[in-house]
Amino acid sequence: MAQLWGGRFTKETDALVKRFNDSLPFDRRLYRQDIQGSMAHAAMLGKQGILSDGEVEQIVGGLGSILRDIESGELAFTDEYEDIHSFVEAHLISRIGDAGKKLHTGRSRNDQVALDMKLYIRDEIHETDALLKHFLETILRVMEENLDTFMPGFTHLQKAQPVTLAHHFGAYFEMFRRDREHLSSLTERMDTCPLGSGALAGTTYPLDRCFTARELGFSRPCANSMDGVSDRDYLIEFLSILAACQMHLSRFSEEVIIWNSNEYRFVELDDAYSTGSSIMPQKKNPDIAELVRGKTGRVYGALMGLLTVMKGIPLAYNKDMQEDKESAFDAIDTVKMNIRLFDGMVSTMKFRREVMEASAKNGFTNATDAADYLASRGVPFRDAHAITGRLVLYCIEKGKALDDLSLEEFRQFSDCFDGDIYEAISLKTCVEKRLTEGAPGRASMEKAIAASREYLSTRQSAEYSCLTED
Ligand code: ARG
Repeated sequence: MAQLWGGRFTKETDALVKRFNDSLPFDRRLYRQDIQGSMAHAAMLGKQGILSDGEVEQIVGGLGSILRDIESGELAFTDEYEDIHSFVEAHLISRIGDAGKKLHTGRSRNDQVALDMKLYIRDEIHETDALLKHFLETILRVMEENLDTFMPGFTHLQKAQPVTLAHHFGAYFEMFRRDREHLSSLTERMDTCPLGSGALAGTTYPLDRCFTARELGFSRPCANSMDGVSDRDYLIEFLSILAACQMHLSRFSEEVIIWNSNEYRFVELDDAYSTGSSIMPQKKNPDIAELVRGKTGRVYGALMGLLTVMKGIPLAYNKDMQEDKESAFDAIDTVKMNIRLFDGMVSTMKFRREVMEASAKNGFTNATDAADYLASRGVPFRDAHAITGRLVLYCIEKGKALDDLSLEEFRQFSDCFDGDIYEAISLKTCVEKRLTEGAPGRASMEKAIAASREYLSTRQSAEYSCLTED
């Protein structure tokens, strides 16, 4: 019998029940964290005199050999084992005998799985953060190269005021920067070690919980053992950060899809990041952006799923909590893949600067500036707004842009217009004069870019004491 708990049972588990109950098919990915936790636990049992030095040595050596064999592919995950914890323990016992049977002293699978999951999520936070940092580098590079690439800024997907590509990308820089900040504050909040909580009520063995916490890179043990085994708040938080990050990616995807459309033609996707149609030979589709956008559902689903799983669980551990894994793993894999792909797509994408600039020129994105021009000559802004509105209407009828009007035409609407109106409403002026903090004017953008550079060079990904790194 491969179960750890066969003693009080007289019958084999029903085959369907076993399939239903087992988690090895998906929790096998926790093998490194499981071994890491067991090594720390064994070292602590030795330090406390609960195990002899020789036993600890055998256990740590045996666990090390299991880790190596899993990683080399020599030790396969076969389905007679219930979960990753039984798998590792059973193999340890078969390799080193009686000492292996002592590893679980003062421990339960409840604090073991709570620890494994926390260690795993901590590693995943680290990896997600590194991917985001790389993506931010890509975004910042585009910003630096496009300080003077004019494009229309939109509200209601209608052309509004001119901005630059650097400014537009700067908005995404801020979103993904916030995602990183949330990750970093989460690592602080989840910095407590559940190991030593036992099944729910601690243990009578004289465990040194501070020792294992430190060994595993936590600053302290969790304060309450019942909470320790049943807390999945950090996972809910991580999924919620991933959901927000995915929402940012999805918005960005939407823009890439629009910009890549035949009507906009603001960007051209690299052949390596687009796909064709089986019937329409002319097609080059933005499938990557569409799929990234489409995958938002499963990421949000994981968050809603876990919130719902947790909502009715009485203290402390209940088997429902095994359901914290599959969709969380899926959401993590999905968002990491999405960031990687999006990064590649953006860094190979061509920006059609002329098309963007031409688009900014028509569509009256300088109408606000024409009104501001009148206001600066003493016309109350509300009147200036109305005059410019009538001018726009006139232009629409004549099929002209504001810049195409003669001074006489301008003057038919207000005698406050002078020859310098052309300069005042040129695309360059409209952008350059927007110098408030966070605005697209060159000087403001240069400041923002310098601050972003500084941020990227100082905000390294946090280091964790993971056992091994991919
Ligand atoms: N596979 C279980 C999980 O993922 C491990 C903990 C099992 N504990 C128990 N008392 N059955 O939650």
